[in-house]
Amino acid sequence: MKIDTKIIAHRGSKGTRPENTLISFQAAIDDGCDGIETDVHFSKDRQFIIMHDETVDRTTNGSGLIYEKNLAELKHLDAGIRFSEEFKGTTIPTLQEVVNLLIQNNFHGIFNLELKTNKVQYPGIEQAVYEYFASIQYPFQLIYSSFNAHSLEILNNIDPQAYRAKLFKTAAKQAKTLKKSKLIEDFHPDIRWVKRHPFFASVKHLRPWTVNSTEDMQYCFKRNMAAIITDYPARAVQLREEM
Ligand code: G3P
Ligand code: CA
Repeated sequence: MKIDTKIIAHRGSKGTRPENTLISFQAAIDDGCDGIETDVHFSKDRQFIIMHDETVDRTTNGSGLIYEKNLAELKHLDAGIRFSEEFKGTTIPTLQEVVNLLIQNNFHGIFNLELKTNKVQYPGIEQAVYEYFASIQYPFQLIYSSFNAHSLEILNNIDPQAYRAKLFKTAAKQAKTLKKSKLIEDFHPDIRWVKRHPFFASVKHLRPWTVNSTEDMQYCFKRNMAAIITDYPARAVQLREEM
């Protein structure tokens, strides 16, 4: 069976490494993934910080909001130890460090950067991220995503060619409206919604998350979806080969 579905590593190889760290991204590349997904925030000194949550509490040995700390403070935190003692001493990466890693690996896959602007507002982050990528050369395909439609609209106003995808936790209806508006053609919904709502079957570039079980992976592969976003890229690569 020919399957074109790409495998995007969610926060790197999140299932086997501390999420959103360079170790996790390198493992995903070594696993043979076709893409990497990650999340970006602003620190107090407006540096691009790679982390999922708005606070450092869950994934590091520190506490508090990212935007209340400078990069130097954030760099002192341990982003590996909560996952396992084995990864003690792992630091929080900046966006530039992740991009450098991808460049060093000559990574030609998808780099899906989620602007984490749905809970905390980071004024100017869309423009700053856009300018950063405009100032460098990179081998990968950049896809911006966000749960915040306004962030995607800002990007659209800066550059209508900026490749954008809307994230959905729920609300298939909202997806329909956005599709009609032609603002975005790419959808990254929760896999549970994809399975419940026939609407998603008509979406051209569907990349659901978080596709971790064998059953869900097979579901997406059989429908030849554009991609899956998974915590287990190695497992997904193997399953795709076996199908
Ligand atoms: O990009 C898909 C997925 O990352 C969205 O949810 O909460 O893991 O950032 P979350
Ligand atoms: Ca994300």
